[in-house]
Amino acid sequence: MSTCAVAATAAATCVRLKRTPSRGNSSKVIAAVSGTLQPLNLGHRSRNAPCRIAARGSRRAKLGCGPFPPRPEPPLTFEPPITPAPKRAILSPKRADLWLADPDAVSPEREERLLRLLTPEETARWERFAVPSPKRQHLVARALLRLTLSRYADVAPERWRFAANEHGRPRLDGPEAALGLHFNLTHTDGLVALAVAAQSEIGVDVEDLGRRADMDRLAPAVFAPEEAAAFAACPAEVRRDTFFALWTLKEAYVKARGRGIAMGLKTFAFRLDGPSPVATFGPSCADDPARWRFWRLRPTPRHTLALATSAEVAEVRAHWTTFEDAP
Ligand SMILES: CC(C)(COP(=O)(O)OP(=O)(O)OC[C@H]1O[C@@H](n2cnc3c(N)ncnc32)[C@H](O)[C@@H]1OP(=O)(O)O)[C@@H](O)C(=O)NCCC(=O)NCCS
Repeated sequence: MSTCAVAATAAATCVRLKRTPSRGNSSKVIAAVSGTLQPLNLGHRSRNAPCRIAARGSRRAKLGCGPFPPRPEPPLTFEPPITPAPKRAILSPKRADLWLADPDAVSPEREERLLRLLTPEETARWERFAVPSPKRQHLVARALLRLTLSRYADVAPERWRFAANEHGRPRLDGPEAALGLHFNLTHTDGLVALAVAAQSEIGVDVEDLGRRADMDRLAPAVFAPEEAAAFAACPAEVRRDTFFALWTLKEAYVKARGRGIAMGLKTFAFRLDGPSPVATFGPSCADDPARWRFWRLRPTPRHTLALATSAEVAEVRAHWTTFEDAP
């Protein structure tokens, strides 16, 4: 099935990411925010503060360093809410949705309610986590997945069943697999993200820019030679952004392929100097860049996110959710 009905029940307000003058802002964006992304638009937005304007020549232009020459940045603004999140919408082959949640913002009472959505196996896995942060991420990821899928189809959140491929990639199982909903999850401290599309080729990765990483040691080990050279040529102030931009793009791609890092991270390379990230695939990768489109987003000042979709996808909508509508 190429389209999916969306029953969006979030207590949500909506903002659109547009290249138009800002008309102010509203505190209503706190509950849930949806927006439309263009490839490589680095929109900065906080849920608890007025949406930030990514000014001309800001972070994205700085990513153009070394072999990635700086280029002018078009003005990017968030508009205030214009429409509530739709109760029902159509996910077409030309669009992908990104659902974001802050696991640390979920209260213990709401955690209790979210836990009721999990299967006994998911609950057992949740119980085995010893460290609170990944434990909360696990719960929020499961709940976000179940509640979000139920926005697209008339299926109760606890009814969804999942299976995994030989590399561990989850997919829908049972009769609901025929709905044609495809998804991919990612989580880190402070953020859980779920990408949903009508095509199976969707992969998402998020990283905490504040996490400790020995970038000089990792870069030659995980980047293709041209990526490693571009990274090595970067000025100090953009090294971290460049490293995590390349890293999240690579992970998003291997996740979209469903094979994980086992497929080899050095068999393909990204350039960051075009209007959107461009991939080159080596022979062992057996893939065609024309099949793909890559997107980047800064969902919070602390997190960077990359999304790999089929080239057919022309629009990505991002939504914050706070589980206020959880049963
Ligand atoms: C997939 C992978 C790249 C994720 O890396 P990560 O940055 O640590 O984790 P992220 O938070 O971005 O993503 C984790 C989510 O990706 C999904 N995922 C797991 N394996 C996946 C795969 N092969 N392809 C796509 N997505 C996958 C899962 O939903 C997982 O979340 P969950 O464990 O809470 O269900 C990495 O774990 C990997 O390469 N796994 C494959 C290992 C493998 O081949 N195992 C074979 C035996 S199962």
